[in-house]
Amino acid sequence: MAEDYLSRIRNHALRDRVVSADEAAALIKDGMVLGMSGFTRAGEAKAVPMALAERAKRDPLKVTLMTGASLGNDLDKTLAEAHALSRRIPFQSDPALRREINAGEVMFIDQHLSETVEQLRTHQLPAVDIAIIEAVAINEQGGIIPTTSVGNSASFAILAPKVIVEINTSQPLTLEGMHDIYIPTYRPARMPVPVVAPQSRVGLPYIPIPPEKIAAIVISQKHDSASNILEPDEETRAIAGHLVEFFKSEVAAGRLTNQLQPLQAGIGTIANAVLHGMIDSPFHDLTMYSEVLQDSTFDLFDAGKMVFASGSSMTLSPAKSASVMPRLDEYKSRLMLRPQEISNHPEIVRRLGIIAINTALEFDIYGNVNSTHVMGTQMMNGIGGSGDFARNAFMSIFVTKSVAKGGRISSVVPMVSHVDHTEHDVDILVTEQGLADLRGLAPRERARLVIANCVHPEWRGQISDYFERAVARGGHTPHLLEEALSWHDRLRRTGSMQPEA
Ligand code: COA
Repeated sequence: MAEDYLSRIRNHALRDRVVSADEAAALIKDGMVLGMSGFTRAGEAKAVPMALAERAKRDPLKVTLMTGASLGNDLDKTLAEAHALSRRIPFQSDPALRREINAGEVMFIDQHLSETVEQLRTHQLPAVDIAIIEAVAINEQGGIIPTTSVGNSASFAILAPKVIVEINTSQPLTLEGMHDIYIPTYRPARMPVPVVAPQSRVGLPYIPIPPEKIAAIVISQKHDSASNILEPDEETRAIAGHLVEFFKSEVAAGRLTNQLQPLQAGIGTIANAVLHGMIDSPFHDLTMYSEVLQDSTFDLFDAGKMVFASGSSMTLSPAKSASVMPRLDEYKSRLMLRPQEISNHPEIVRRLGIIAINTALEFDIYGNVNSTHVMGTQMMNGIGGSGDFARNAFMSIFVTKSVAKGGRISSVVPMVSHVDHTEHDVDILVTEQGLADLRGLAPRERARLVIANCVHPEWRGQISDYFERAVARGGHTPHLLEEALSWHDRLRRTGSMQPEA
């Protein structure tokens, strides 16, 4: 093991910086801003934040934690329970941290994922004091070779005065060469980002930093956490089926080819199931320009449907990881991991003409989407990259099951209780009931289609009644303001949106 980790520190002058996780965590002081690797449970630094949480239990301290996105290995939970977080940026998905956020204990800045490092670079966010980055190796020049995610790691390491590198010997060296690290040039002479296809290689396969910034190297062996997405079920298969039929009709109308356009699919069970549904479709030579590569990406490779996938992280289920990671070499020439600033870059999303498929918690009859707040107040995960893609996509699609919590909640409501994606950013809505193509439609037309195609039959009468009474009152976007959020209010009071008996 000793030999193994030393061979991963190829810049020999850095070999004497290896310390324990506790010693590295001691560099962190109360009130600091940390920029840590980690994106949707992939490639997060593991040993140092764990040591920090232990220290915070004995000797209270609070830090601002910035990452790429959510963390695995229960790190957000452990840090939240140790009361070590004052602020968290820009995404999380942990129930314990969510409780702290909703109690107002942790200030959560829920941000478009492409924006964080742009704001850091331009001093619109507090500067990072220490970057903590998981790596498979450090190269001869002192460059950091990331692991299963890139996220915001490159800019954190470049911008921070001090860097702690966690070399994770459980991450395979075959990951080397899969990353493409490109940092936008500085204004006022900023150049276009030169990505013109999902497979464009425009940067370096490592994060370039002066080796003297590496203050400590910690060796870890902890694996990434497995993804916690569920297998496709009857409803998610139905959603996928509606989308496949819709894409076929777009091909027949000459608006798409059987190659479609580069695909982006959001996090979670539903988006994964939708992509999985492409296996039994006439589409071929598919590409992805996305954020997270989940199981479905590899299912599509294995089915011979996908030719290239670009993302910012790989988050796999235990079974998929067991089959993919030992054979990574077979996939490597078809995969690329980029900084999230580039995987989600509005300029590239628009240039490539991406079909964006993201999940809504709820949407309303006019097509506004809430992806983040239960009952308009309780944070779920965050907007993530969905806004980066939805605003700029060739076609912006939102999917959800038509009901939640055993039918007590309708996911199609008169008015969303929080807006993440306005009606202007939403082209297609899909539930297991059907699909509403909202392109070119005015609000009253949109509402009729959403009610007819997407609402669960249990709720259709009530929502139609709401809409018709609102139309009688008038307006470009008719509403009964005193009633528009009454379904959510009932849910808050009674645990169900259904009218009280
Ligand atoms: N009201 C309240 N809760 C709802 C709901 C609604 N209208 N619709 C769904 N839920 C609940 C589900 O019951 C489930 O709860 P549970 O965890 O207690 O079982 C939870 O929300 C997740 O829903 P699920 O149906 O399992 O979908 P998912 O795993 O695909 O996640 C989102 C859906 C919206 C939470 C998730 O996609 C997300 O966080 N999106 C925002 C970020 C994003 O889109 N990033 C992608 C950019 S690449």
